[in-house]
Amino acid sequence: MIIAPSLLAADFSRFGRDVVRAEKAGAEWLHLDIMDGHFVPNISFGPEVVRVLRPQTKMFFDVHLMCSKPEILFEPFAKAGADLITIHVELGDRVEGLIWKIRSLGKKVGLAINPPTQMQLMEPFLSKVELVLVMTVNPGFGGQPFIRECLPKIQQAYAWRKNRGLNYRIEVDGGINFATAAECARVGADTFVSGTGVFGQPSLRTAIKKMRKIAVENSPKLNSGPEPAADLFAGR
Ligand code: DX5
Ligand code: ZN
Repeated sequence: MIIAPSLLAADFSRFGRDVVRAEKAGAEWLHLDIMDGHFVPNISFGPEVVRVLRPQTKMFFDVHLMCSKPEILFEPFAKAGADLITIHVELGDRVEGLIWKIRSLGKKVGLAINPPTQMQLMEPFLSKVELVLVMTVNPGFGGQPFIRECLPKIQQAYAWRKNRGLNYRIEVDGGINFATAAECARVGADTFVSGTGVFGQPSLRTAIKKMRKIAVENSPKLNSGPEPAADLFAGR
């Protein structure tokens, strides 16, 4: 089980400090939300922020591109220190080529799906990615309420993985707090992005520890198969 605090909920004037705090608090991954003001109605930060944060931490950098033209950002983020780059399935017939491009840069690949999008669109790409990201809010802003109707998608990603012997991670993102993390874990999520859910707590360390414990305790144990190799996703 991996907890990935989202930098979007950190103090924008003190990213360096908050990244060090997140690592000291026990987070293995840092989730970096990149918004272009077009695919989503907001702008966050770019590769330069990732580049300056890279030497501050050994955490695995999970870069989530909510962008209409992600291809122009692959190389800048790869050079800046991304470990995994996620694009959205809503990009349609461009997805296949985009996956290939990320891989050709030597990075792991994630594929995300927004709440209104049909899960079937993910099917052709399942064997080509290391991570399936089920969005549990409409992306663009932190602090939104969890959309419960997305739970069957997590269940579907889990069933596909098991039935086809695949080993992508199943990540959830949006409105993840202690209660919703439990709901997602029960249907098969193993990677939990949380912004306000952890940064909003008085102790980041206690919050991350508690969320991990909840995830472990609620995970489907029977016939679950092995969790995707943790060493593949370790930090630096
Ligand atoms: C939503 C982003 C999320 C966001 C989650 O557009 O993709 O990663 O930071 O924030 P919370 O956990 O506050 O919903
Ligand atoms: Zn995200």
